[in-house]
Amino acid sequence: MPVTPSVHAINQYATTSGNLTARIALHAYGTNPQSWFDWLEERLPLAGDVLEVGAGTGKLWTHVDHLGRGLRLTLADFSPAMCEHLRSVPGAHVQQCDAADLPFPEGSFDTVIANHMLYHLDDPAAALREFARVLRAGGWLAVAVNGSDHLDELNAIGPAIGRPELALGAAQNDITAETAPGYLADGFTDITVERYPCDLDIPTAEPILAYLDSMAGEPLPAEQRSAARDLIQARINAEGSFRVRKHSVLITATR
Ligand SMILES: C[S@@+](CC[C@H](N)C(=O)[O-])C[C@H]1O[C@@H](n2cnc3c(N)ncnc32)[C@H](O)[C@@H]1O
Repeated sequence: MPVTPSVHAINQYATTSGNLTARIALHAYGTNPQSWFDWLEERLPLAGDVLEVGAGTGKLWTHVDHLGRGLRLTLADFSPAMCEHLRSVPGAHVQQCDAADLPFPEGSFDTVIANHMLYHLDDPAAALREFARVLRAGGWLAVAVNGSDHLDELNAIGPAIGRPELALGAAQNDITAETAPGYLADGFTDITVERYPCDLDIPTAEPILAYLDSMAGEPLPAEQRSAARDLIQARINAEGSFRVRKHSVLITATR
């Protein structure tokens, strides 16, 4: 039976931050010397009262000097395990809640950020309505999502070893770099889209196997692991590394 986006998100994130941490680690093989989080830091429209929804382990705030910039930061996530991490971000108010049901009065924030989280929701339009509600007039929304070809070469491994559900899109909704501007047009204006220029160039099989384990939520069984390793190693032997297309965008808009 197909897994809904929200059930997949609960399986992945509710009780552990390990799956997210393993996946972020793979992006250390990015071809752009500027990391995603540093690239974001230069572009995020940050001012005054800032809310990040689906803030995960709070990685963004190890790159942004929110205290030095005088930001008042609220970090929200539905996962108790993630909120535990978020409590170590200095000066941040942490709120465990669902993105589609934010416990904040209307007009509470100058910026709302949803970094790589909208595609985990059963009803992303409902969350976007909540983001518009809690933003002040003229406030900024910043959303990061992926193109439909994001990590295509990794997504091909799951089906090839009999685990099609390991492909990224298998349990996500239809919000992508291509469709998100249409979603935002209902409630937001001044929509801009910018692509982060980066691919992955991975020299050994191990980080890819760890990525596949994180998608499965547990170590792959020995036979599938061995099939995946052979497939990855054959590509490395032929091409010198395992090259993966990345396609992430930052979308900004005003309310
Ligand atoms: C791919 S992670 C991104 C985390 C962080 N923004 C980052 O970029 O490192 C997605 C995050 O969204 C959270 N999430 C998923 N569904 C959610 C929901 N319905 N409401 C709030 N947070 C949710 C997960 O717990 C997870 O921390």
